[in-house]
Amino acid sequence: MWRYSEGLPVDERFAVSFEEGFTPLLPVDIDGREVLVKQEQLFTTGSYKDRGASVLISKARELGIEEVVEDSSGNAGAAIAAYCAKAGIVCRVFVPEETSPGKLAQIAFYGAKLVKVPGGREAVASAALKAAEDVYYASHSWNPFFFHGTKTIAFEIAEQLGWRAPDTVILPVGNGTLLLGAYIGFTELMKAGMIGAVPKLVGVQAAACAPLAEGFSAGGGEAARIFPEKTMAEGIAIAKPVRGGQILAAVRKTGGGFITVTDGETEAALILAGRRGYYIEPTSGAALAGVMEYLRTARPDEGIVTVFSGHGLKATEKMAAVLEEPG
Ligand SMILES: Cc1ncc(COP(=O)(O)O)c(C=O)c1O
Repeated sequence: MWRYSEGLPVDERFAVSFEEGFTPLLPVDIDGREVLVKQEQLFTTGSYKDRGASVLISKARELGIEEVVEDSSGNAGAAIAAYCAKAGIVCRVFVPEETSPGKLAQIAFYGAKLVKVPGGREAVASAALKAAEDVYYASHSWNPFFFHGTKTIAFEIAEQLGWRAPDTVILPVGNGTLLLGAYIGFTELMKAGMIGAVPKLVGVQAAACAPLAEGFSAGGGEAARIFPEKTMAEGIAIAKPVRGGQILAAVRKTGGGFITVTDGETEAALILAGRRGYYIEPTSGAALAGVMEYLRTARPDEGIVTVFSGHGLKATEKMAAVLEEPG
């Protein structure tokens, strides 16, 4: 992705990179229709979050920063920890006390210091903010440099289509690092005269935790206040997205919308992906379930792009549990 360094707000000499990006854009048969799927599960840490981590940690290196804090028990935490390991930057990751050890193993292997915080996700975020009073806050959801990394997905999609934008891009959305990144990237390409229009952006949320979908259908400018329930799509189980207003505005501006999916639909999508040769994690399965729903009313000639955002090997226990479901 550093082929686009002219468009990245970092001095390339400080790039922290595993030569990530330019993931394949492959046609996948979904219910008899061909959809192009960006293979974002193929990054070094197993998810597209490496795009954001590469730019953010490169910027930290450029600024001479020696230590960062982040709060994430999932893919973003793993990506920040890996890029810090590569850059020789000390990394502290705040996580909920009850996070399962399996999820923390990858972060710990990269040498990040894990700080377990009791009291749920909100308490973790406040502890990280407090620590960030003296240490650089490498937050995937707040730090703008992360979004300048994730925007490269739009550059790649356009380049892989021969410098054209697709009609519609369907993405999983929780805190919006992928969706807002895509919006920024396509907008930059349009302003540079390289594509005609920003594609319609469609966000997929789990029905059990859908503050953006609910806020959007209520017609408001902010995410709805919700009482979330459990979902297997943990990457998008964000009850209070910090950039909720920005996400809704971006989706509206592109003429897009939201789709919600149940865990049952996500499981069916995971199985479909597997039968096509793709092993993706439940959060990515939710996005695929959203695509299946979208296809019911899509125009026959609509050019649709989606992503497989994380690798199935990230969530072995959850994947194994799907096989035990009756039917
Ligand atoms: C695999 C995967 N897909 C999609 C997302 C959604 O990203 P965001 O919360 O930034 O919208 C995440 C977030 O953690 C994720 O881990």
